[in-house]
Amino acid sequence: NSMLSWQRTAFHFQPEKNWMNDPNGPMFYKGWYHFFYQYNPNAAVWGDIVWGHAVSRDLIHWMHLPLAMVADQWYDVSGVWTGSATLLPDGQVVMLYTGFTNESVQVQNLAYPANLSDPLLVDWVKYSGNPVLVPPPGINTMDFRDPTTAWYTPDGKWRITIGSKLNKTGISLVYDTEDFKSYERMDGVLHAVQGTGMWECVDFYPVSKNGGNGLDTSVDGPGVKHVFKASLDDDRSDYYALGTYDHKTTKWTPDDPKIDVGIGLKYDYGKFYASKTFYDQNKKRRVLWSWISESDSEAADMKRGWASLQNIPRTVSFDKKTGSNLLQWPVEEIESLRMTRKDFSNLEVPAGSVVPLNVGEATQLDIIAEFEIDKEALDRTSGADVEYSCGASGGAAARGALGPFGLLVLTDDSLSEQTPVYFYIAKGADGNLKTFFCSDQSRSSEASDVDKLIYGSTVPVLNGEKLTLRILVDHSIVESFAQGGRTCITSRVYPTKAIFGGSRLFLFNNATETSITTSLQIWKMNSAFIHPFHH
Ligand code: FRU
Repeated sequence: NSMLSWQRTAFHFQPEKNWMNDPNGPMFYKGWYHFFYQYNPNAAVWGDIVWGHAVSRDLIHWMHLPLAMVADQWYDVSGVWTGSATLLPDGQVVMLYTGFTNESVQVQNLAYPANLSDPLLVDWVKYSGNPVLVPPPGINTMDFRDPTTAWYTPDGKWRITIGSKLNKTGISLVYDTEDFKSYERMDGVLHAVQGTGMWECVDFYPVSKNGGNGLDTSVDGPGVKHVFKASLDDDRSDYYALGTYDHKTTKWTPDDPKIDVGIGLKYDYGKFYASKTFYDQNKKRRVLWSWISESDSEAADMKRGWASLQNIPRTVSFDKKTGSNLLQWPVEEIESLRMTRKDFSNLEVPAGSVVPLNVGEATQLDIIAEFEIDKEALDRTSGADVEYSCGASGGAAARGALGPFGLLVLTDDSLSEQTPVYFYIAKGADGNLKTFFCSDQSRSSEASDVDKLIYGSTVPVLNGEKLTLRILVDHSIVESFAQGGRTCITSRVYPTKAIFGGSRLFLFNNATETSITTSLQIWKMNSAFIHPFHH
């Protein structure tokens, strides 16, 4: 359907057609980044799940390869579900994944490349002794899925964790193995949080306390913190927390129980689910992939013939300045798609105004912006909007003393379709500032079958810091990063007028008390090559 063809993206990973969900088994092997994903070869809706496979030299340009694994065994005939790769020191590649059996039981299976000398790892072999793990006593047969990458323990064994639940408590089971074929269940759980429901796609990895390089999953010691992430089936969000892992007790403890997994920080406050990291030994960084689903109707997806994207892979590292969150940032390779650049410096945006940014067509952009509010206005404002929240305070149209202000992306000339990405500053009676970072989809499309949610959360801003923002715009996806990636928001948007040559970019300031001074660098982005492989 050509009317909907603009919704296809130019530099985000997506298959040629049909449905995709979770990222699976990402890794760097013999010069190639490998990306597997949950895929329905038959329709643009979830079902008949197998593993799609693509390879890349740079995480940006991709070559689609044949399906890596299909549902051809009793232990995965109802679905070849999510899994993770482990690279062993001797060069072997181990893939553990969940199979949904002929009797609708979730089991864990082992697979490995048929030919390790093939850098494209085209052919995969399923271990003849599968399944290697079945649901343990007391665990529901439908609540046992998505094994992690293994980490090497001081006892000379490999350890994995698998999400589950007990009643309404999200839990993560732990197993040790020497050969990935037989496993020993460890006592207790790695972590549990009441009331959070089923934990899908658990991820567990170390980050360096001094920020900087990423770490191999097996690294442990006084210089690291461990990140625990769970995807909450109940609210379709990826929650992470920073904490301490104790190998001996097999337990992970959050730094701050008030922001534990499932009740505190999210990787992203928009569409972002079932994510998974891998350690990229090529560039010594940890890279985060995530499934970005649609927010239009299933009927629209079927008509269009495809559904879902993956995010631009992000490096993740510990934010040593705040000490309490991760930083996420698009991998540097995305900058290779930057073409012409326009700079704007110290533009003044008066209270209650919209200012066009003359960049022409605005469907493929990389935007970097910084904002300063008027110091006097800040000083004279007292006790403004302490109860503010992105989702419940009226979005970008509602005016407060010190916000909202930011950008209008994927906007048409008449402003009838617009997607505001913005800051909002609340000032307590005590003088303390709280900064919010939001994205408002309520006016992003004239179509009626799309979510019109307002996303966002708070973002830490330290003394003396300007407000900074990065936005990647790609036709039907907007990925936004505040303060270097402390708070991130991804949204899917479906304009009907702000497409191709009809799309524009604006600044806006809906604060009543302050003008805004802003500087921007804006690049037009090239398209990536994401093509099928032909022999
Ligand atoms: C998460 C998930 C996983 C499962 C897979 C099935 O989106 O439900 O728990 O393995 O998708 O496609």
